[in-house]
Amino acid sequence: MTIPGPPIGLLAELTHRCPLQCPYCSNPKALLKANTELSTETWLEIADQAADLGALQVHLSGGEPTLRTDLAEIIAGFARRGVYTNLITAGVSLDRDGVARLATAGLDHVQLSIQGARAETTELIGRFKGGHERKCTFAGWVREAGLPLTINAPIHRHNIGEVAEFIDLALALDADRLEIANVQYYGWAYLNRGALMPERDAVARQVDIVEAARERLAGVLTIDFVTPDYYADYPKPCMGGWGADVITISPDGTVLPCHAAMTIPDLEFERVPQKTLAEIWTGSSAFNRFRGTEWMAEPCRSCPRKELDFGGCRCQAMAVTGDAANTDPACILSPHHDMMAEIAEAESRTTAPDFIYRRIGAGTA
Ligand code: SF4
Ligand code: FES
Repeated sequence: MTIPGPPIGLLAELTHRCPLQCPYCSNPKALLKANTELSTETWLEIADQAADLGALQVHLSGGEPTLRTDLAEIIAGFARRGVYTNLITAGVSLDRDGVARLATAGLDHVQLSIQGARAETTELIGRFKGGHERKCTFAGWVREAGLPLTINAPIHRHNIGEVAEFIDLALALDADRLEIANVQYYGWAYLNRGALMPERDAVARQVDIVEAARERLAGVLTIDFVTPDYYADYPKPCMGGWGADVITISPDGTVLPCHAAMTIPDLEFERVPQKTLAEIWTGSSAFNRFRGTEWMAEPCRSCPRKELDFGGCRCQAMAVTGDAANTDPACILSPHHDMMAEIAEAESRTTAPDFIYRRIGAGTA
């Protein structure tokens, strides 16, 4: 069995409640209701346990984490223990004083998701009227509070033509970093894959735009790029390896090796506060299932890249091949690779179906 080192970070999903309805949401299709959420006390206990375990950072996410009225208290709990705090937000729920309160509580960084570089695209995807203007105003309050700002732009066929405008928008909002993040297809995004899949030519054009901008804006704006798996030759090292770097905690305290791990049917998950984070990190069968490289079959088992990408993404292997232990089909060496590319070509050329928007009940009907 692979003995894990300390986790680098925690993804704390504080709530599944959200004012937006993005059709590629990374939350599970069975969304949790508010009455299942962990208490403030339990999150403060988690902050202590995470720090004791050696975690260096926490990503406070959701749903929309700013809907938790105790968010400042939770941030202070992590900050007190020297854990770097990053807020992942849609930026439509807090006012100026709210942003300042979080900064005072010890918040270190804000990651703001924007669904389109144009107002109409942001509204089409998030289904929140006036959302674009609210997000831009919010970005100003973040900078005013002295906090570093990352703009997260999830990319798909409805906004892939806006990549150059996203770069201009990030500059206009005085962001430090922009993530051009091609949508990853699990959960809600898998359900909406046909509606979201971009064409290969559009993907190639965005790569050129990003590469040119990176050169032009070196030292001004950092641009991260999450590759579109369905058109890739090699997979990404998802989560930095299963059970290697990150602990994800769902709103009800279920502890997961990654945010989409519940899409893998034969894994059993444990919960806080019933067990400690340390017990789960080292002892949970779900965390140990794909740790290290011993679980791998061919072609990964004898591949020189296996310590670089860890066989790619388990959740994508599950979604596309039906077996989470398979090589990620994004890999050119996978026997399922051609099938994945064919799916992308076919879906991207078909008229986009309507979105199934993220809301309670819509994904499980
Ligand atoms: Fe990575 Fe496995 Fe493909 Fe090798 S065969 S590149 S380890 S996914
Ligand atoms: Fe679960 Fe990649 S999203 S391992």
